[in-house]
Amino acid sequence: MNHQPERLYLYPVWIRIWHMTNAILCLTLIITGLSIQFATPGTVIKFKTAVSVHNIAGILLSLSYAAFFIGNLLTTNGAYYVIPVKGFLDRLLKQFRYYTVGLFKKEDAPFPVSEENKFNPLQQSTYVVLMYAMVPFVILSGWGLLYPEITVKSFVGYSGLDLTDLFHIIAGFTISIIMCVHIYFCTIGKSPWSNFKSMLNGYHESH
Ligand code: HEM
Repeated sequence: MNHQPERLYLYPVWIRIWHMTNAILCLTLIITGLSIQFATPGTVIKFKTAVSVHNIAGILLSLSYAAFFIGNLLTTNGAYYVIPVKGFLDRLLKQFRYYTVGLFKKEDAPFPVSEENKFNPLQQSTYVVLMYAMVPFVILSGWGLLYPEITVKSFVGYSGLDLTDLFHIIAGFTISIIMCVHIYFCTIGKSPWSNFKSMLNGYHESH
């Protein structure tokens, strides 16, 4: 049995504002990005409109990412993104076993949410890769496409712009898939809605 307090204040206002902005911008980027990628004469969003909205949302995402990055540097929230190396793989496997077996047998979570550990090991690794590798990568490659003059002309015989475009698309699709998985895992809480409520009121509800 877990004996934690029922409600923990884990999502400060700035994280909630950042997350809401980030989620809206990412959804806008995914919709307009897909629209640009699969544009045909009859595409619902006009190609030019999709490009303009995509560019503006990308610039706003860069600003909101800067706010997240600086916020994590200046507040205690950054500590949740530091992965202790010792026993990392064991903890990851334990959490994986819980998600694939333990959860369905109604076992207690191996890493219950606490003030010290807001994220379980799988959540933590995903958020670190997402926020410190994938998102910066999609943003930087996006700027490279917006200003082709700053992009390397060629790399091992391939056009630098084509490669930047390819990496931007791969990163965008990967983030979209991670986002779907992220939303699914957010439904695993005290109730299917409780984690979503946490991101509105700041309080995590324990089982
Ligand atoms: C409609 C889209 C989204 C929904 C409904 C959603 C939902 C949530 C919820 C309920 C949480 C709190 C529970 C938890 O920590 O797991 C959360 C946290 C988080 N989400 Fe999302 N999310 C969305 C999109 C995104 C996107 C696009 C990203 C990044 C590209 C993202 C990154 C994060 C991060 C890093 C946290 C932890 C924040 C912290 O407490 O430091 N989310 N999300």
